[in-house]
Amino acid sequence: MKIHQQTNRCGRWNTSNLDLERVFFKFSPEAEEQFKYYIQNLGDLKNYNRNLIIIKSDFPKFESELEMCRQEIDHGQRFVILESMEGLAFDEIQMSCWIISNLLGTPLAQDQDGKRLIHIYDRDKTKRIKDGARYHQTHESGAIHTDNVNVLESWDYLLVGCVFPAMIGGENIIVSALSVHDFLESKAPDELAVLRENFWWEYRGISNNLYQAPIITYNKAGEPLFRYLRTYLESAHKKAQKPLSDKQIQALDALDATLNMSEFQIKHRLKAGQILVANDKQILHDRECFVDYPDSISVEEKHAGGNGILCRSLERTWVKKQEKH
Ligand SMILES: [Fe+2]
Repeated sequence: MKIHQQTNRCGRWNTSNLDLERVFFKFSPEAEEQFKYYIQNLGDLKNYNRNLIIIKSDFPKFESELEMCRQEIDHGQRFVILESMEGLAFDEIQMSCWIISNLLGTPLAQDQDGKRLIHIYDRDKTKRIKDGARYHQTHESGAIHTDNVNVLESWDYLLVGCVFPAMIGGENIIVSALSVHDFLESKAPDELAVLRENFWWEYRGISNNLYQAPIITYNKAGEPLFRYLRTYLESAHKKAQKPLSDKQIQALDALDATLNMSEFQIKHRLKAGQILVANDKQILHDRECFVDYPDSISVEEKHAGGNGILCRSLERTWVKKQEKH
């Protein structure tokens, strides 16, 4: 990515005015020391788990710097990439994703087993999204989307931490929902109006039920909020036996065409230890296809004592902010 100096209006950025100095965040040496000291005294990290009680006062400097990032995610460009902390092992990176998620809010269950920290890796090279596989379990590129499509409940942050990158590929694509919305407002207002109406959605991976919600809603400040993953939506309409109308298809095509404009897409390949934290309703994302090293192993196999280079391994949480009282 190139550095651009032009300013952008809050979350409305494109490739020519994104401020990279606000994207990449490096914790201060003091904050990093506090965090590493905490992790290194946790003992066995295999069970990085839900029962760990995280007390903010255990690392005050780290926590206050993370709060600065939250401001950027809530009110600034709507995402940050936390820079790697030097010297963390693979299991310490996993743990750091879990701790940071808990400092930002409450990580939600993402599947029917109630897992709140999901490993993203290519589980089976033969699995395809078109056949019903969940996108995070494949190596295929997807389509630009938000993650908040599987549950009606609204949450705030998507956190994706890189434990180990692929041999080739796997870039993340990041798009500002606010810029896309403004573009549609000026070029396709009729299509935008359709996107504000209800569509059908499925609880893929969670239950067989369906629900209805618009693709675009608005918060109290009048800013657009997105819920979008076209393949899941199309699948839900089939299950509901409510075929998409011509108007709906036109609106989805207008949205996809805009999302795929190069001026709206930032691409970044996460390095080991880097963590993307995005406001999931105001940042859309995707991942390019990738290939792992031959004979690479998963983090589970590594935890079980396996030797070998890791496959592309990311950790993901969906985090709901704590309400202020
Ligand atoms: Fe995603």
